[in-house]
Amino acid sequence: MNKITLKKCQIKDIPEIRKIASKAFPEAFSSILNNEQMDYMMDMMYGEKALTIDIGKGDQNYFLMYDDGEPCGYISITTPDRFVKERIEICNKKNGSPANMQVIKDCKKPIYLLHKVYLLPEKKGCGLGRLLFQHAEDVVSEMSKGKPSIMILQVNRKNPAVDFYKYLGMRIIGQQDFILDHGFEMNDFVMAIDIK
Ligand SMILES: CC(C)(COP(=O)(O)OP(=O)(O)OC[C@H]1O[C@@H](n2cnc3c(N)ncnc32)[C@H](O)[C@@H]1OP(=O)(O)O)[C@@H](O)C(=O)NCCC(=O)NCCS
Repeated sequence: MNKITLKKCQIKDIPEIRKIASKAFPEAFSSILNNEQMDYMMDMMYGEKALTIDIGKGDQNYFLMYDDGEPCGYISITTPDRFVKERIEICNKKNGSPANMQVIKDCKKPIYLLHKVYLLPEKKGCGLGRLLFQHAEDVVSEMSKGKPSIMILQVNRKNPAVDFYKYLGMRIIGQQDFILDHGFEMNDFVMAIDIK
């Protein structure tokens, strides 16, 4: 059996994240987004500059998964303090953030945002996605030090991953069309799970 490990990322890990993303993101979205939006979103999320800011400033906590030492997937998590910052910055710009949904504004528990859950296409379907998700739950549980919290995520309504998340216990708490630059949209569900 292969040895699966997970490691919190630093700036030096950016090339590995970009390498996986360059395969996993187009594979997941080629039937959902057009090429222009795909390129825009790849740069917005995985451009060198974007990742340097996200990881360098601590806006997102990335974790890489290794299968027998080979990088094969990643998750990223935003903590409640950063999420609140996002609420102010992004909502003021009136574009895409789940932070401007009433159900989120009304939530009294700390909210962790699971930004990304991605595996290399050839690694899908062998249980590694479940391990990535469980790691996200463990990280949130550890970060929140036992305080009841919520982990949320945005997922495209046409992405089969919606059913994966439901299967793992997440519930749909809303749907929203988030507006990006150039008129691009993300037609998402927002899903949530309680973390104890
Ligand atoms: C979503 C993703 C992480 C799932 O990982 P995976 O390794 O394929 O899933 P696993 O093999 O760990 O599956 C765990 C369980 O979920 C079930 N499952 C997996 N995908 C499912 C789906 N689309 N619908 C319903 N159930 C699903 C499996 O059958 C398995 O059940 P079991 O343990 O009872 O056998 C992976 O498919 C992926 O990287 N997709 C592309 C990236 C993406 O779209 N990410 C989400 C962006 S928000």
